[in-house]
Formats: sequence, structure tokens, C-alpha cells
Amino acid sequence: MAITVLQEERIFKIDTESSSYVLGVLGNNVLVHLYYGGRVEDAHLAHLAPQRGRASFWSIQADAEDDFSADVMPLEYSGAGSADLRAPALAAQSETGDNVTDLRYDSCEVLPGKPDLPGLPHVYLNPGDEGETLRITLRDAVKNLYVDLYYATFAFSDAICRWAVVRNEGVQAQTLTRAMSASLSFPGMDYDLIHLHGAWAREFHMERSPIPHGEMAISSFRGASSHLHNPFAALVSKDATETQGEVYGVSLVYSGNFRIETEVDAFDALRLNCGINDRGFAWRLAPGERFCTPEAVLVYSGEGLTRMSQTYHNLYRRNLARGKYRDQPRPVLLNSWEGVYMDFDAKKLLEMAKSAASLGIEMFVLDDGWFGARSNDRCALGDWVVNEKKLGCTLHDLVEQIKALGLSFGLWFEPEMISPDSDLYRAHPDWALCPSGRAPSLGRHQLILDMTRRDVQDYVVEAVSAVLRSADIAYVKWDMNRNMAEVGSPSLPADRQGEVFHRYILGVYSVMERITSAFPNVLFESCSGGGGRFDAGLLYYMPQNWTSDDSDAIERLTIQHGCSLVYPPSAMTCHVSAVPNHQVGRVTPLKTRGAVAMLGSFGYELDMSRMTPEDCVRVRTQIIEYKCSRQLVAQGDFYRLLSPLEGNDAAFLQVSRDKSLAILTYVQKLAEPNPAVRRVRLRGLAPLIRYYCEQDRRIYDGATLMNAGYVLPEMHGDFDSVRLVFRCV
Ligand code: DGJ
Repeated sequence: MAITVLQEERIFKIDTESSSYVLGVLGNNVLVHLYYGGRVEDAHLAHLAPQRGRASFWSIQADAEDDFSADVMPLEYSGAGSADLRAPALAAQSETGDNVTDLRYDSCEVLPGKPDLPGLPHVYLNPGDEGETLRITLRDAVKNLYVDLYYATFAFSDAICRWAVVRNEGVQAQTLTRAMSASLSFPGMDYDLIHLHGAWAREFHMERSPIPHGEMAISSFRGASSHLHNPFAALVSKDATETQGEVYGVSLVYSGNFRIETEVDAFDALRLNCGINDRGFAWRLAPGERFCTPEAVLVYSGEGLTRMSQTYHNLYRRNLARGKYRDQPRPVLLNSWEGVYMDFDAKKLLEMAKSAASLGIEMFVLDDGWFGARSNDRCALGDWVVNEKKLGCTLHDLVEQIKALGLSFGLWFEPEMISPDSDLYRAHPDWALCPSGRAPSLGRHQLILDMTRRDVQDYVVEAVSAVLRSADIAYVKWDMNRNMAEVGSPSLPADRQGEVFHRYILGVYSVMERITSAFPNVLFESCSGGGGRFDAGLLYYMPQNWTSDDSDAIERLTIQHGCSLVYPPSAMTCHVSAVPNHQVGRVTPLKTRGAVAMLGSFGYELDMSRMTPEDCVRVRTQIIEYKCSRQLVAQGDFYRLLSPLEGNDAAFLQVSRDKSLAILTYVQKLAEPNPAVRRVRLRGLAPLIRYYCEQDRRIYDGATLMNAGYVLPEMHGDFDSVRLVFRCV
């Protein structure tokens, strides 16, 4: 890790262990990108700037060097409205209507460590972690608008964190209509874009497409990062696979509306911008105010996708997630949702918990339906008062009885929502997000609380905290179940309505910070109808996320495969549920449901009191198996061996950091007649270590497993699977 500043040549070089990022300042003070890729030692890379003179139609800034147009230069952080007509990083309009922003180099500084991003989730340094940050300041001289570009680099990671702070030192207010976290330039377009798209119950589907001339974008305008597109993308060389090729990952530490866009110009040069979605965004920056963008985490890998993913996994579980459970294996839990939905009383819950305890479950989670008049999803959100009539006892008594069975207790909330049929709405109809005088759309029969308001934030903090104080609650599932519409806050003036989306998410972050720090022993899990807000921003507050409402083992192969591209397995919660599966009606073997769920933070979601004695025996064994290896989920390296998107099967490998333990999970989708023998090559083992396979009771050396591969046993029937444990001998 190093930051090199060549003062005279005005070159800046940021090195990680295996990548380099180089910038330079042209004679007319334009900051240009020179290089990002595999590590280079020489910083003198000014010759990499495009050498192209005037072209017809191109606008040439008054002070341009050699008639070069900014429109063909790889601007590091482009303003809007001047000679560069591509998608800008920043757009600001002054009160007099000047919508030009022409950013020029002003100064630079190397800072020790990594500054915090106020009010925003961010990668942080642990005691003893080494890191340093380059700050380059740009300025629009007419507006006296400054932009501080930050680049943090670390001794322990190949990631580079980027963000920008816009400072208004002028005399007029500026309205920012675009403020990206980062802009990246590439000299050619010979890349594919990989991203994760989906919908409710089918999140994280990996898609790879060539980058066209012109613009292409993935984004969210739903108030949350959303099921539709995850705030992550990777530009990959055409030959990139899991194990080879160049990969540039971009992951936003943000949970609201985002945009990751590419633009390829007339000379095949590629720009990638990422940050807050400018659609619906207009932030008024009064003189003296500043605006901080969310952080973008960049990862370059010269060795394919796996290396990129592992870099994200290690950084996010150690330097983004926080709290007591950050590095710990998570308890094996039983969640009540698919078992009983909202149809329960304490007697039923205790019956489920009793069966769970006898099988080795460690925590019982009571999902939706325990508060207010909530007996269906049409009412009571916001009324965070225990429905003792429905339960038949107090929450405290229920929790104590569950604890007496040897289980800890967890509880579901959906704190950001308000049902029109709720005491909260009857008392505070103005607390729902909506411009005055309009009838807001409902989603799942509910409205959204105006989290931009401090009084609403205080209510949520107090309402959730009061419940958490009332009983010994060890876990919270924080849900959020609708997209936003009619986004407006009557509490803000007209010229600040464009701030509502971002202020909402800042409000959520502030509330989460207050609650998670007040209850440091509670394990928090975020959820948004599954993975509708599974992003790096929320990982800062909650170290795990319900990956998808789709608990079918075969659907989960694709979902978890895509999710693992950027998020660590410990962050993915995965449950075994009943068959036929409630989302797709598929019947899969319990063995396969267990094997797939054990790839992440593991649990069950069914009525255990109704399982057959045979299934109880199988579940007891599964839980023992998981407990023996869960350290791998918490800290091991994750490999995608066979993609579920490419064939009739999927394979994943988890390897401990010391390489002494590896678990291979192989799942066949549909049965095949007279199938070929299938051999799968393992990865990441120590070549000279000898491994004992607990299932076939044979010994193999690591090199053989990686080079020759492991011959899989024959599969029987649809959705068969095998989970093989290799321990060093
Ligand atoms: C959506 C979540 O994803 C489910 O797991 C469950 O908690 C329901 N909400 C409860 O309403």
C-alpha cells in the first residue's frame, strides 16, 4: 500500500498490493485519469493521456492545451455543462441559473488512516490496520465550489475506497442535481458488464453483457437499493472467468437510489460513473455547506472473479460489518414465518421452540404478527406494542419460557412503515411520506414513515428500544416491505423536496446507528422482503441480511451464487423450509435444502413440531454438521466452482483460512438418464496437504483435488446433492 505524489509532474499514484491507480494534472489544471489495473512501479504515466488534437464539432475550452477538448479526455471527475458533454460526475446550478461546473485541480494532501464519512456507512480501519488516504481538491472558480476527491488504500486489502465531498465556498446557493461517488475511465470498450438483477423472490441473478457505444445503466428509483438491481457491477475483460482475466468491481456502500452507468464515446473510450441516482435528486447546498457522497469500493483483480469476490468478502466482514457478531459464527435459528405466518399464540410458539431445542437449534425468532392488532398484513405497522391478548402472555414471559428451553430469542420489526389502519397513523397522519394534498399509493397495504423527520426518527428509536428493553431479546430482524412512491415530505420546503430520497436513507442510517449502538449484544439482521435492500450500506449496521423470501433450494443456488459475487457468506442468511416450497411449489430433498442453506448463516423456517421422526433425525444431524463447520461461513474463503446459470448443476467450495478444512457442496438440478461421470476441480487448497474425505473415507492430496479433481458420486433423482468434508490429516 502506498500513495505517491510527484509534486512537480503533478502525478498521483495509489498502490494496493496488486493494483495501481494513477492520475495526472494537465497544463490547464484538468485532472485526468491515467491508469487503473495490475500493479505498475513507474508513476511517470503522463504519456498515457490521449494525444488527440482538435476534431470537428468538439468544443475546446478557452484555456485548453493544444486545442485538446475535455470531451475526449479521461476526466477524473467531470463537471457538467462545459466542453465535456458526456455523463458528468457533478452537476450544480447556482441561484442565477448558471448550470456549468468546470472543475480544475486546486490542491492535494495525503492523510494518515481513513477519514469517516459523516452520517454514512463506510469502510473503517481496526486498531492496527494500516491505511492512508489521498485527497485531491478540485474547484470551479466561478462558483467557488470545491470538490474533495478521496482515495483510501489499505495494507490489508486490494480495495480502493472512493468518495467525494462537495463544498460550497461561494456566495450563492448551489443545487446539486448530480453528485457521483466516483467516475472511472478506461481507454477501450473491450469489456463486459456483470451485474445482479432480479425481482422479489429471485434476487441476485448474475447477468453479463457487452458494453455498447452510448449509455447503459443499472439503477434504483425505489427508495431502496432494491430487488431489481444490486448496487454493484463489475467490468470484466472478455476472457474473464472465475479464475482468470481482468475484473474491476464497483460496489456502493449505499442503500438508497443508486446509479451505475457506462458511457462509451466516439473513440471507444469508456467512462463509468457510480453513486446516488440523479433521478429525483436535487440537493440545495447553501453557502458554507458541504455534501458527502456515499462511498464506492473499487476492487481490481487480474485473476478473475473469485479473487475480486474474496477481496470484497474479507473487507466487508472485517472492515465494514460491525458489532459483537461481526467475526462470530451466528446462532442456528428457527424463524416462525413460513411455519405459522401470523397464526400463533404463545402455546404454539412454545411447541415449535420445544421441538427446535430438542434438535439443536440455538435461537427462536418470532417473525411478523406479534404487535398491535396485527393478524394480517393490512394493519398495525407502527404500533410496536406486544399483543398480549393474542400471545396469551407478556413478551417477557414468552421469552423466559423459550430461554428455559435453552434457546435465545429474536423478534421481527418493520420500523420504517405505518399502516393506515394503525393507532400511530390515527395519531399522526402527517408522519407518512407523501406530498401534501395527495393520496399516497399503498404497497402491501402500508405507507412509509417520513424518516427525514427527527420526531419520526425519535419515535422509531424509542418504540423499538422499549420492546427490546422489555425482554431479553438477542436478535432483531429489521424488515422493509415496499417500494416508495409519492416521495415528498411536507416538513421540508419546496426547494428541498429533491432531497427526500437521500434524507430518508440518512434518517434510516441514523436510527439504525442509535439502536444498534444502544443494544450492542443484539444480533441485527436486515431484510427487505428478502434481498430488496441487501447492500454494503446496511452491512455497516447489521452483519447479516435475509437473502431472499425464496427459500427453495434450487432457486437459492442462483440467488446465493450471485450474492456471493460481492457479499460474504456470513452476511447471507439461508433457511431450510418445508416442501412443497411455499414460493415455487417444488419438492426438494431435505438433504439438499440443508446443504444449500449451510452455504451461509444457517437456520430453519418451518413448523418443526410437525416434522416426521425421520426428518427430525436428519435435521439433528444437519445441525451438528453445520456447527462443526460454521467457522468456514464466518471466516473461510468461498469459491464458485460450477455456476447454476450455466448448466444442470452447481458447486461451491468453502475453505478455511489455514486450508485445513474444505467443504464441497454439489447440487444436481434435474436427474439425467445414464449420466456421464462428473469430476469437479477444487480450488484454494494447500497442494501438499493430505485431506481425508469424511464421506468416502479416502485420503487425497490437495494438488490432486485441485488439478485432477474429485469424482462425484452418482446422483439419484431430481435435486440430489452431496456435501463433502475434507479435513487435513
Ligand atoms: C418479508 C420478509 O422477507 C419475510 O421473511 C417475513 O419477515 C415477512 N416480511 C413478514 O411480513
